[in-house]
Amino acid sequence: MTLVVTGGAGYVGSVCARYLLDAGNDVVVVDDLSTGHRDAVPDGARLVVGDVAEVADEVLGAGDVDGVVHCAARSLVGESAERPAKYWHGNVVTTVALLDALRRHDVPRLVFSSSAATYGEPESSPITEDAPTRPTNTYGATKLAVDLAIGNYTAASGGALGAVSLRYFNVAGAHGTDGSGDTGGTAALGERHTVETHLIPLVLQVALGQRDEIAIYGDDWPTADGTCVRDYIHVDDLAEAHVLALDLLARGDAGSVREADGHLVCNLGNGQGFSVLEVIEACRRVTGHAIPARVAPRRAGDPGVLVASSARARAELGWKPTHTDLDGIVADAWAFARARA
Ligand code: UFG
Repeated sequence: MTLVVTGGAGYVGSVCARYLLDAGNDVVVVDDLSTGHRDAVPDGARLVVGDVAEVADEVLGAGDVDGVVHCAARSLVGESAERPAKYWHGNVVTTVALLDALRRHDVPRLVFSSSAATYGEPESSPITEDAPTRPTNTYGATKLAVDLAIGNYTAASGGALGAVSLRYFNVAGAHGTDGSGDTGGTAALGERHTVETHLIPLVLQVALGQRDEIAIYGDDWPTADGTCVRDYIHVDDLAEAHVLALDLLARGDAGSVREADGHLVCNLGNGQGFSVLEVIEACRRVTGHAIPARVAPRRAGDPGVLVASSARARAELGWKPTHTDLDGIVADAWAFARARA
């Protein structure tokens, strides 16, 4: 198949592009390089530099595009509160333009990077896809708005467009740290955000001596040790789910997609929660560094516990996470962070 990966120079998008190439597809990466890195685009993919909305017609109009994996997004929760326009335009307006272009050019398949942030503070755990969606931050609201738009477009397409929204929980780890990364200029693909807000890379920066300590955002949550619990999923497992989602959409008899009016929503997590303290402990074990930590106030908009039910992804996509050991996930992130330090 010929597939377009938007955001394919970013953390998740680059690993998805790698997996889709390895599965034998032709891949075109669209990325404006505002947060992505040119050298993260896997060898073998063609890179089109530009804004998704602006280049969609050129890329999709070239013909014979079988599907789009839409990872390009603004994704900083904190920034989204301060700059809502950046998020509503960058995530929602851009994706609606992409949906219009998919329709204009008869592209039949879409896989979208959605988020656990669409659920907000859950009523029960693990979270299933029919849980209430009440995002507690602007970022999550924009991801939910896109999910709703996709559902409206697939329903109106009369079967011409099929879509899967993958609601990622906490993506972690790195691809190719065993040397199999094979990209232009980088040995591996991992998180390298200019503005880093995610727990594991921040803790590893302490181990690298790039930061003095890690702040623990609250120790008074209603959890076993008082710190927030999250479901960490390895980026390799996540990328594999995109390949499987495209496979599902490519099967004409995908009853589950048809029953969902052409738009299947699937959570992607390990189904296992780890607290902030457990993550810091894992990082201490893996790095051998003491990693000083200090309790700080809760971060606005943080839910206490976010753990996925992955039952639907397992049943509908035939997906199964293979990296369920926290130390293993951290070890890959550590190998990547150390190689780039
Ligand atoms: N945390 C700290 N200290 C830090 C950074 C994070 O204690 O310095 C805590 C957070 O409070 C949270 C956990 O570590 O409990 C994980 O935080 P991350 O920022 O790594 O991830 P989030 O759970 O906030 O965010 C993830 C995705 C978002 C998505 C969100 C869904 O990265 O894209 O899940 O709520 F929106």
